[in-house]
Amino acid sequence: MDQVIILAIESSCDETAASVVVDGREVLSNVISSQIDLHKKFGGVVPEVASRKHIEKIDLVIDEALEEAGVTFSDIDAIAVTYGPGLVGALLVGVAKAKALAFALNKPLIGVHHIEGHIAANYIENKEFKPPFLCMVVSGGHTHLVHVKDYNRFEIIGKTLDDAIGEAFDKVARAIGLGYPGGPKIDKLAPLGNEDSIKFPRAKVSGYDFSFSGVKSAVLNYLNKCEMKKEPIIQEDVAASFQKAVVEAVVEKTFLAIEKLGLNKLALAGGVAANTKLRSRMQEECDKKNIILQYPSMVLCTDNAAMIGAAGYNEYISGVRHGMDLNAIPNLKLTDKDI
Ligand code: KG4
Ligand code: ZN
Repeated sequence: MDQVIILAIESSCDETAASVVVDGREVLSNVISSQIDLHKKFGGVVPEVASRKHIEKIDLVIDEALEEAGVTFSDIDAIAVTYGPGLVGALLVGVAKAKALAFALNKPLIGVHHIEGHIAANYIENKEFKPPFLCMVVSGGHTHLVHVKDYNRFEIIGKTLDDAIGEAFDKVARAIGLGYPGGPKIDKLAPLGNEDSIKFPRAKVSGYDFSFSGVKSAVLNYLNKCEMKKEPIIQEDVAASFQKAVVEAVVEKTFLAIEKLGLNKLALAGGVAANTKLRSRMQEECDKKNIILQYPSMVLCTDNAAMIGAAGYNEYISGVRHGMDLNAIPNLKLTDKDI
């Protein structure tokens, strides 16, 4: 078969992104227009502001992606777009644009699940990496342990019962005055602190599920207590101790699950997979247990459209085509059993 060139669009949260991907693994361009500076002053993503900014940027980002890739619309074989989960207004901008392009150019339209995209980011830099494997999806909205049985066959082994891990990073960062987005800031500050200085409790959740609201509350309580006692708050120590607590919880469940499933490959996905401590702890454990670890480079961990092109290709190959009735689904599930 000839090569398949996909134009992919991502606008589920605060990045407007477009990418041209060949055969799901070769990225010709990966353009990301981040709204971080815009949302910083509000301490988090403001959905209405995000939607408006996506509208302003989407054409520019698509044009740039095509130009950088050295292709024109006529070279494109299909249009892939994130249609959920995410902020509905933000998703709608990408979905409407993708539908308009697919209709005008008479090309197939492929709706992609955002998390399937994060998982597929792992295929881009290692052309040999393929299912089956266990994937630890850690993002601002998800903490899912996913058994990737095939390119588009998933089973959810465990997930958070409350906050997503990225949400916990962001809330704790805000509470200690680091601002938004918190994950990268905690990552940078933590090595300067003592991770054993404060004992934040790790939630005892049965099976392969997670909970992060307890540790988040414990941090908030600790900060309140310090303030009341007029004791100094050492940001570095709080960041390091919090990070240790959540990373260890994720590591523990991941290896319980991988042993149960008898898999020998582990992948990390989502924004929090950019975390230095998480990567190094996972690598240590994988080395001990002879498990192959795969994770995307930083830029492919956080939201981007190349990952949507990678996942879109897998869907395209398996025959998935969406119609002009494709809609944004803010709580789109990865599998039927994902509730
Ligand atoms: O995957 P992503 O870009 O967007 C969602 O789909 O949610 O993930 C964003 C999340 C944010 O919570 C952000 O703070 C976190 O990923 N994050 C990090 C790091 N980089 C981004 N968390 C910890 N360490 C990092 N280096
Ligand atoms: Zn994401």
